[in-house]
Amino acid sequence: MNTKIIRVEENDIDEALIREAGDVIKAGGLVAFPTETVYGLGGDALNPESSKKIYAAKGRPSDNPLIVHIADLGALSKIVKYIPKEAYVLAEVFWPGPLTMIFEKSDAVPFETTGGLSTVAVRMPSDKIANAFIKAAGGYVAAPSANLSGKPSPTEDKYVIEDMDGRIDMILCGGRSLVGLESTIVDLTEETPVILRPGYITEDMLSKALGIKVLWDRAIKEPAADVAPKAPGMKYRHYAPNAPLTIVEGDADKVADAINRLGAKDIIEGKKVAVIAAAENTAKYDKRFLIKSAGSFYNEDEAARLLFAILRELDDEDAQVIYSEAFKETGVGCATMNRLMKAAGHHVLKV
Ligand code: TXA
Ligand code: MG
Repeated sequence: MNTKIIRVEENDIDEALIREAGDVIKAGGLVAFPTETVYGLGGDALNPESSKKIYAAKGRPSDNPLIVHIADLGALSKIVKYIPKEAYVLAEVFWPGPLTMIFEKSDAVPFETTGGLSTVAVRMPSDKIANAFIKAAGGYVAAPSANLSGKPSPTEDKYVIEDMDGRIDMILCGGRSLVGLESTIVDLTEETPVILRPGYITEDMLSKALGIKVLWDRAIKEPAADVAPKAPGMKYRHYAPNAPLTIVEGDADKVADAINRLGAKDIIEGKKVAVIAAAENTAKYDKRFLIKSAGSFYNEDEAARLLFAILRELDDEDAQVIYSEAFKETGVGCATMNRLMKAAGHHVLKV
C-alpha cells in the first residue's frame, strides 16, 4: 500500500489536508495522527471493518480493545449507555487531555472496536491536529498507539513512518508528543473508580477532582496468568528492548559505582553496554558506555517525554546490555517507572 505522508503545522492547520484525512477515515481507511500522549493509528470507531484493519496493520490480537477518540463532550452520549456523574467531573477538569475513561458501551459501538467487551474506552485529546482530524473524520476515531505490536509507542513522527509506512493510507506528521506516555485509563463502570493504567493524570489528581480515593492497584500491573485482566492490553507481553534491561536503584553515587562495575565486566565479555541516566549523573559513568540522558532528575515530565524514544534508539544502536537509573516517582514519574519496569521485565537491583 502506498502511504501518503503529510506534515501538518500545529499553529497553521491546513484545512484541506485535514478534510482529506477525515475522508480517508469515512471511506474505511486508516490514518496515523499525533496526540499529546503518543501517536494514534486511527480508523472509524463505528465501522467494524475499520477496526479489523487496525488490528491487521498493527499486528495486534483482536481481543485487545481500542480507545475511541472524540473531539467534544456532546459526542459521548451516542457511544455510551449512560454517563456516570464522576465522568462529568473528570471531563470538566481533564478533557481535552491525557485521560481515558471506561464506560458501558451503547449499541452504536461494534464489538470489533471493543475487542468483544461490553465497555468502551473514550478519550478526548487536547492536541489541536488530533481535534481537527477527529471532527473531520466524523467524530469517532478508534485508535491504539501507532506502533507495530512489540515496539514502544511512537512519540515522534519518524517512528510512526518506521513502523507504519506501507501498512496504512496516511500519516499526519506533527513533530514530538508533549507527554510521551500513553493516557491514564480510569474505569468508571465499578462502584469505585479504578486506574487501569497510570499516566500523566495521576492518582492524586483524580482523587482530588472527585473528592474520593481513586484506586491504583499496583498489583494490576502484572495480573496472574489465570486471572482475566481488567485492561486486556495488560495480559500481552509489553515492549522490552532487545537487550536485557536492569533497573539499578539506590543512592546516586552507589548506583553509578554498581553500574560502572557491572558494565566493565560486560565490556570484557565484548558486549556493548548502555546506560539510561539523569542528566545530573551522566558524567559519573564509564566513557566506554553508550549513555542516554533522560533529562534532569528533577524534571519528571522530561523523562516521560524521552523514555520511549531512548528505548527505540537503544535497539537501533544495538545495545547488548542496558542499565537504567530509577526515575523519581512524583507526578508522571509513577507512570514512567511503570513503563520502565515493564521494559525491564521487573528486573531491579537495589544497591
Ligand atoms: O494515550 C493513549 O491512550 C494512546 C493515544 C493514541 O490516545 N492510545 C493508546 O492505545 O495507548 P492502546 O491501544 O495502545 O492502549 C489502550 C489500552 C489497552 O491496554 C487496552 O486493553 C485498554 O486501553 N482498553 C481499551 N478499551 C478498554 C476497555 N473497554 N476496558 C478496559 N481496558 C480497555
Ligand atoms: Mg499501545
